[in-house]
Amino acid sequence: MAFLPVKTEILRVSSGAPEAEPIARGAAIVRGGGLVAFPTETVYGLGANALDAEAAARIFAAKGRPGNNPMIVHVAGAEQIHTVAADWPAPAARLAERFWPGPLSLVVRKRAELPAVVTAGGNTVAVRMPDHPIALALIRAAGVPLAAPSANRSSRLSPTCAEHVLHDLDGRIDMVLDGGPTAGGLESTVLDLTTSPPRLLRPGLIPPSAIEAEIGPIILVLRGVPAGELPMPSPGMLERHYAPRAPLQCVGDEAESYVEKLRRAGLHIGWLTRNATSERPGVTVRVMPSDPAGYAAELYAALHSLDDEGVDRILVSMPPDTEEWLAVRDRLRRASAKNK
Ligand code: TXA
Ligand code: MG
Repeated sequence: MAFLPVKTEILRVSSGAPEAEPIARGAAIVRGGGLVAFPTETVYGLGANALDAEAAARIFAAKGRPGNNPMIVHVAGAEQIHTVAADWPAPAARLAERFWPGPLSLVVRKRAELPAVVTAGGNTVAVRMPDHPIALALIRAAGVPLAAPSANRSSRLSPTCAEHVLHDLDGRIDMVLDGGPTAGGLESTVLDLTTSPPRLLRPGLIPPSAIEAEIGPIILVLRGVPAGELPMPSPGMLERHYAPRAPLQCVGDEAESYVEKLRRAGLHIGWLTRNATSERPGVTVRVMPSDPAGYAAELYAALHSLDDEGVDRILVSMPPDTEEWLAVRDRLRRASAKNK
């Protein structure tokens, strides 16, 4: 699709109590088929009317998103589910009751009337109700569900503030509702309920054990699954994703000596670590929070800032292989994948 540059309007909105005026303007753009970036509790989304095929197609053009990658549809309440989903199985109702609004996207069968472009031609749709006053106010004012992927150029880092959105999409989208930095920092958990048992397609801030406590056993589909063992779950899963510009490498206990080696070789290193460590020429250190939630909230901003500094290589001291770090480790592994 030919891409036409537009002027991107930036409106400040209070996250606690969104002002009616900017919300109404954003909603009018959505109803007119335009693109509005808005904060959610995870990352910023790039929203369009999910029921308007042309509007949804504009998202793919603005992001440079491959047409085979389906989008999450955002609703403001259970009453909107039937506008996009063909059915709402008992486990979906149970999980929505427990975790919505919140960072859990549920994949169910799509309604025939939902434009195929939203689901990339597939017969399922991912639905979630975001836990953010601006997102909910925008959806309610627009009166339609919003198809909204993360508001970044395809395969780049997700945005956790309006500046990140503009960095990637200024001149390509109609509006950004700037509600300040997002609290969660990592994209939602994606759970496919169309298979038995259900499959976790993307780990997020809702851990597998919390889901299993509600609906019983689920299968974890993560990178590194032997080829052929499981059907390809969703196109966004295997490619390089969530990646900074600088090559990113995950390191273990050998981090300190490896940093030294690369530094001596003349590289400017960005180092993400959870331990206090000494700054030195050629090494930009980001000391990250030692708790998973704090780490998740700051991860993308830290990677964005190292990119802005123009480091040659980003080294990340890997957090432990435990459930509470599952989503963070997943994003770090994807960011370090070599192939597009
Ligand atoms: O937290 C989030 O989920 C953010 C905010 C804006 O809501 N959105 C987000 O969207 O991260 P996106 O498009 O960047 O990631 C959506 C993921 C992709 O990996 C996509 O392949 C998968 O969800 N997905 C969407 N619909 C699907 C479907 N019907 N079946 C399987 N996977 C699906
Ligand atoms: Mg994304």
